Amino acid sequence: MSFNDHQKNRVAWNEMVEVHIKHPSGKLKEFLSGWCSLKEIELNEVGDVSGKTLLHLMCQYGLDSLSWAKRGAKVFGVDISDNSIDNAKMIKEKSKIENASFIREDVLKLQGAIKEKFEIVFQSYGTHVWISDIYKWAEVVASYLLPGGFLYIIDQHPICVIYQTQEMTYFSREPQRYKGENDYLDRQYKIKNELVEWQHPLSEIINAVIKSGLSIEFVHEFDKGFYQVEDDWYQEGDYWYPPGGPCRYPLMFSLKAHKPQ
Ligand SMILES: C[S@@+](CC[C@H](N)C(=O)[O-])C[C@H]1O[C@@H](n2cnc3c(N)ncnc32)[C@H](O)[C@@H]1O
Repeated sequence: MSFNDHQKNRVAWNEMVEVHIKHPSGKLKEFLSGWCSLKEIELNEVGDVSGKTLLHLMCQYGLDSLSWAKRGAKVFGVDISDNSIDNAKMIKEKSKIENASFIREDVLKLQGAIKEKFEIVFQSYGTHVWISDIYKWAEVVASYLLPGGFLYIIDQHPICVIYQTQEMTYFSREPQRYKGENDYLDRQYKIKNELVEWQHPLSEIINAVIKSGLSIEFVHEFDKGFYQVEDDWYQEGDYWYPPGGPCRYPLMFSLKAHKPQ
């Protein structure tokens, strides 16, 4: 585990959240006008959340957390970034949503910070690369699930690293450190603070979930992405495609795993 590097990411995410929340692609205006930020895949794969308790890990400024809350879940959102959580609380107040709470914490240090256990642990889009120890992450997830509850994660497929950077391989163990990269939402904005990312092959994520005692229901791979990776990518519905249509390699994966009764 590398808590110092997580703290560097906290500073960088504080910077990026300020950029995201002001940018049209950050969708704050749409959310405040009633738009649901959840996409077709997770809506289908998570299913009905009405009356359920849901822990949303790495929630940024909480649009997905609050969208689940609008669908009837009692939600707890967690994020390491101060600006994420401050904004999530502000958006919750503005949209008058009752059944949502937010806490600023490193996901790997969460145990003890929240007392409740949950029927669903949810995590989405752009998260596993910020976790230095995926085995500890899975242990935290499992510790917060009630018997019969489930983890659902949807994220960028780890294979993407070999198409998006020359520095890392699919099996890289060393973290990648970078500064001055363009932000993925505001593609003109150069991030000033250092970011640290870790590569986790899909097998490692699956094995971490198995080792935590959860029972995997499915792993799915998708030929579409959740953001515009290159300028010439096009959007159809909720998802992005490279020129010429569905991608030749997987851009996203989803995983659902239950805690035994
Ligand atoms: C790409 S964003 C996630 C976006 C999310 N799907 C949403 O609904 O907006 C990644 C988030 O992970 C958070 N994060 C990064 N490292 C973390 C850590 N160690 N613990 C908790 N949150 C972390 C960042 O602050 C950031 O808000």
